Amino acid sequence: MHKKLILILVLCFSLQLFAAKPFTANVDSLLSVMTLDEKIGQMTQMCFSTITLDGSKTLELNVDNFRQLIQKQHIGSFLSGSDSYAKWFEFITAVQKIAVTETRLGIPLIIGIDHVHGANYISEGTIFPHNLMLACSFDKSLLEKVAKVTAIETAPVGLSWNFAPVLDVGRTPYWPRFYETFGEDTHLVAEMGSAFIKAYQNVPEIAPYKLAACAKHFIGYSDPKYGYDRSPSEIPMQTLHEIFVPPFRKAFDAGVKTLMVNSGELNGEPVHGSKFFLDTLLRKHLGFDGVIVSDIKDIERIVKMHHAAATEKDATLQAMNAGIDMYMACNSFTFIQYVNELLGEGKLSMAQIDASVRRILQLKKDLGLFEHPYPSKDLLRKVNSVDNRKVALEAAEKSIVLLKNDNTLPLGKNKKILLAGIGANSKRMLNGPWSFDWLGAAEADQPKTMLTLFETMKNSFGEKNIFLSKTERIVTAKDNKSFLKDTRKADMIVLAIGEQPYSEFMGNINDLTLDADQLALVDVAIATKKPVILVLMEGRPRVITKQAAGAKAILFAGYPGIEGAQAITNILSANTNPSARLAFSYPLAAGHTIPYNYKPSAYNIYWKPDTTLKWLYPFGHGLSYTQFEYSNLQLSDSIINAAGKIIATVKVKNTGKNAGTETVLWYIQDEVGSISRPIKALKNFEKLNLKADEEKMVSFEIIPSNHLSFPNKNAVIKVENGYYKIDVGGLYAKFKIENKLN
Ligand code: GLC
Repeated sequence: MHKKLILILVLCFSLQLFAAKPFTANVDSLLSVMTLDEKIGQMTQMCFSTITLDGSKTLELNVDNFRQLIQKQHIGSFLSGSDSYAKWFEFITAVQKIAVTETRLGIPLIIGIDHVHGANYISEGTIFPHNLMLACSFDKSLLEKVAKVTAIETAPVGLSWNFAPVLDVGRTPYWPRFYETFGEDTHLVAEMGSAFIKAYQNVPEIAPYKLAACAKHFIGYSDPKYGYDRSPSEIPMQTLHEIFVPPFRKAFDAGVKTLMVNSGELNGEPVHGSKFFLDTLLRKHLGFDGVIVSDIKDIERIVKMHHAAATEKDATLQAMNAGIDMYMACNSFTFIQYVNELLGEGKLSMAQIDASVRRILQLKKDLGLFEHPYPSKDLLRKVNSVDNRKVALEAAEKSIVLLKNDNTLPLGKNKKILLAGIGANSKRMLNGPWSFDWLGAAEADQPKTMLTLFETMKNSFGEKNIFLSKTERIVTAKDNKSFLKDTRKADMIVLAIGEQPYSEFMGNINDLTLDADQLALVDVAIATKKPVILVLMEGRPRVITKQAAGAKAILFAGYPGIEGAQAITNILSANTNPSARLAFSYPLAAGHTIPYNYKPSAYNIYWKPDTTLKWLYPFGHGLSYTQFEYSNLQLSDSIINAAGKIIATVKVKNTGKNAGTETVLWYIQDEVGSISRPIKALKNFEKLNLKADEEKMVSFEIIPSNHLSFPNKNAVIKVENGYYKIDVGGLYAKFKIENKLN
């Protein structure tokens, strides 16, 4: 009895040690007292829908279910939910209290969320443009502001892990997650992604709370051979190292704490089960030492989707040996069962389990979860939605690309303007996917404080000048007649067309051409001979080539977020001078989608200069209400050795009548390589604010190892001798590398 009493006292003390006071010991001391089940529980992430009363993401806790998960399965992490601040606050307080005070060791939960374009799963959250649009701003400081607001709105409710940013490089616009990428260029994706991560993980305003970002989805997810989400990617290793690896490497340099794995298969291997991609490449070659989390239910998919394991137990062994630290099991417990069995059969070692649990505990410790697992009323009070909406407006204004303007914009005052199309009077089309619901909440569930394009245009141009047509699509003769009737009283027609929000595989398409009944609406409008302005609200560049020819002006707005309507209106009225540029190539035809940095042989018209029209609008295209002129491109040297560097300078002048912001894009072409090199590649970009008539010198320091090197198929980085061409603002200059050093 005596011994038992002492044991109970020691146990209580150790409990007290971990459960009540700040956890200052190193994680190994905690690991050393954990049972196997407690360890495997830390490696398992469940969906909140398994513990809500109605099984949805609405946060009403089923306490009994939750206690069972926590006390019997020792689950250490949850994800996903969508509700108000108050409900989030109450829910996370309740679940953390049980985890911290009603379990043996009191290890706090870490809760993940997809706040991929603002605090988009909090009803009062600020919704920003999606990444593809933000990338069109070419403005890293803007990304930092967006990340900061997202963090400030996410942290107060105890959400400490954001499954963002997507670092996949958008190489095919067919991919339904194209809008989640920062576009088709590796350098731009790497710069934008790392800017987000650095800002998001370092927000003094929420101290002592900290947040973890998540580099996703490693790797090769965004170039599916057939365009469909999670369809196989086949990417040569040299291309993988040159195009797809750099954004992740830069994210690791930026200190990203976690990484999520690609659900698809790459070169025949389901990445979730690939020791080569997750251990050899990710851990050993790239040196990532943070937490690797699977994507949702992706061990089961190794069996059911990839047919690369006969049983789920085999798949579990594959994934564990590949290096998954935490499994996003969502609603099944087989992972826990199979890891236990595989350990018992000696197929897995305790060392493997401990390595993963140690990373997870270290993550929780780094985020301060042991000290403050609960939501913070103090932080909640600091959330300033009004200021945050201003950032959302700025983000949208700087992300909307003016693609075409035949002296039609800005829209004159006192013009009668007819507004039509699926985006004309819709909040859902502006916020887009991942807004309060995976597919974008229904119109009625969108923020009450938000305005549609119809509303902002009335406010800006006057109630009597803006008319809304109920016709969104021309399907029948009746639609045609009704729409034509509406056009009669209009001087100009603004059509908000594009794609209803979609997510992941729900957005799979077989034809990039915009659907016929929306194109028919444009055709009918153009046939009236009245000026037609297109506002594209879409997640990817849908083909509109014929209609673009007839339109007088075109804006690419993408999914511009909660202030998107005001931003579009401010550009249409010239309250804002557009400054965005395309972060992707806008295709001419559905059957020919090619990125700007294609290989020279793609257009093998070798016997004459290549004047092929390649895109409707090229990467980097974007108009302004003023004009900019480049002159005087100078190089500090014409010959450098590989250890040297070269300074390029150019003068940029605002030759128009309006102040504006120019995006200076520096491209370099390696004219001859030991393997074929891109026709050109973006190597540097910056934004330049210029008043009318103002000019500035801009410089770019070219460092061969950073800007002229490329990896071979074994990831050996090299700089080659030969001629290089630099291209900025349509000016060119050449320099040569003579590697005297070796
Ligand atoms: C989804 C997505 C991933 C997201 C995760 C959690 O399937 O692929 O990007 O973070 O599930 O919601």
